[in-house]
Amino acid sequence: MDTADRIAEKPVSEPQRTAVLEIKQLKKAFGSNVVLDDFNLAVYRDENVVVLGRSGSGKSVLIKCIIGLLKPDLGSINVLGEDVLALDHDGLDHIRMRIGFLFQSNALYDSMTVRENLEFPMRRHLKNMNTDEVNERVNEMLSNVGLLHTIDMMPSELSGGMQKRIALARTLILKPEIILYDEPTTGLDPVTGREISTLMVEMQEKYKTSSIIISHDMKCVKATADRVVVLVDGKAHAIGSYADIRQSADERVKQFFE
Ligand SMILES: Nc1ncnc2c1ncn2[C@@H]1O[C@H](COP(=O)(O)OP(=O)(O)OP(=O)(O)O)[C@@H](O)[C@H]1O
Ligand SMILES: [Mg+2]
Repeated sequence: MDTADRIAEKPVSEPQRTAVLEIKQLKKAFGSNVVLDDFNLAVYRDENVVVLGRSGSGKSVLIKCIIGLLKPDLGSINVLGEDVLALDHDGLDHIRMRIGFLFQSNALYDSMTVRENLEFPMRRHLKNMNTDEVNERVNEMLSNVGLLHTIDMMPSELSGGMQKRIALARTLILKPEIILYDEPTTGLDPVTGREISTLMVEMQEKYKTSSIIISHDMKCVKATADRVVVLVDGKAHAIGSYADIRQSADERVKQFFE
């Protein structure tokens, strides 16, 4: 499905849509380095929002604030009805179960097999699941990414693209409602990058997740974005569909397409 179809299917201005994630007036500075400054963004149910920004613009800081790894100086972050900044340790742990996070580095455990990597989050968070249910979930997610045959392999035996797929399967294993992707196609060849982008869209449609995708890979942006947010000077400088952003006359937006 191309971007035009996705946009036609999901009008971005529908007023009654539910925000699953709402960030208001977020500010985060490290000493005199003001990284996020009055940053505002709402992500709606069943929507993929891409955050586009130059290196060092604060994209990873933004994601870390959302999952409570960094504490902002000002502003509010509401995720699935919870005020993230007011949550205690247990509350944060609980909300993180509902948010999947795909690290740029994949963060697979080298000493564990693919199966063990996928079982790990379930052991921690879904202690009531029996062995059959765990096996079934592992098989479901590996089938989703087309890698059931790698179940007993070690991550080091897999290509970069396969590792990314396994990392995606692990991100999905708890069936999160929101997924945060940090540069999911960076470092992959264009064909593999396209496959990962396609898989991200398929998984979003299958599990009805909402996502924030950090990327500067324009092919990935075009393939996955329902909306694009351009992060400049710590603010959501421009927000719109891929087509809107692509056609922008703003120099600070145009630079991403050169
Ligand atoms: N823990 C920290 N302590 C101090 N400064 C930090 C910390 N984390 C990030 N920064 C600073 O915040 C700014 C934004 O960093 P961030 O990692 O969010 O950039 P980014 O947009 O993700 O870049 P890239 O595309 O290279 O990943 C940088 O100036 C960085 O030095
Ligand atoms: Mg980053």
